[in-house]
Amino acid sequence: MNSARPPESRGAQLRQAHLEDAPQFTALLQEVAREMGALARRAEEIDKAYLRAALKAAATRGCALVIEAEGALLGSIFTYAPEPALFHRCWSNTTLAVIPKAQGQGLGRRLMEGVLAAGREATPPIDRLELFVRASNVSAQGLYERLGFRQEGVLKQRLRTPEGALEDDQLWAYYYP
Ligand SMILES: CC(C)(COP(=O)(O)OP(=O)(O)OC[C@H]1O[C@@H](n2cnc3c(N)ncnc32)[C@H](O)[C@@H]1OP(=O)(O)O)[C@@H](O)C(=O)NCCC(=O)NCCS
Repeated sequence: MNSARPPESRGAQLRQAHLEDAPQFTALLQEVAREMGALARRAEEIDKAYLRAALKAAATRGCALVIEAEGALLGSIFTYAPEPALFHRCWSNTTLAVIPKAQGQGLGRRLMEGVLAAGREATPPIDRLELFVRASNVSAQGLYERLGFRQEGVLKQRLRTPEGALEDDQLWAYYYP
């Protein structure tokens, strides 16, 4: 996988996301939603207000990272705890995306590893990182499994695709040792 990396991922840098990234972050998620359809939101349900709210929540009780090369965002991840204090050591609402032309080059793994490390280093440290993934999204499930996540359950008939098809959702979690 590393031997002949196309230019998209060469020299790509992982860094913390800031509120000022909201416009580019929005465009990235819209592109992935439009071309892959694998995110919970459709492209028209993703706007700067949604991203600003997610980045603010991640800044106070979670983590948001981007990976970029030559000033262009190639991938992103955010996750944040639900508001009740009971859940403050559980990061949820996790959204991971890499633009189609940069996929399969290890960027998704780097983003998720970055969040896993941030949870370990958080004060207090995070106990659990959770996410939902569609039953049909086997490539993302493969990534989570390789990183040590466990599938906790299947949420039957949770989704209706834009085409009207019924689909199961899956809950996966990583437990910090
Ligand atoms: C899921 C996604 C973020 C992965 O990003 P990526 O940059 O393409 O992934 P990577 O190149 O880092 O691959 C990560 C790992 O998954 C593995 N993988 C890829 N496809 C796989 C498959 N079909 N089955 C099993 N493992 C697979 C890779 O081999 C790699 O493992 P390795 O690092 O141990 O070699 C990206 O495909 C994406 O944005 N998809 C659309 C949005 C989405 O599905 N988001 C997640 C919603 S829950």
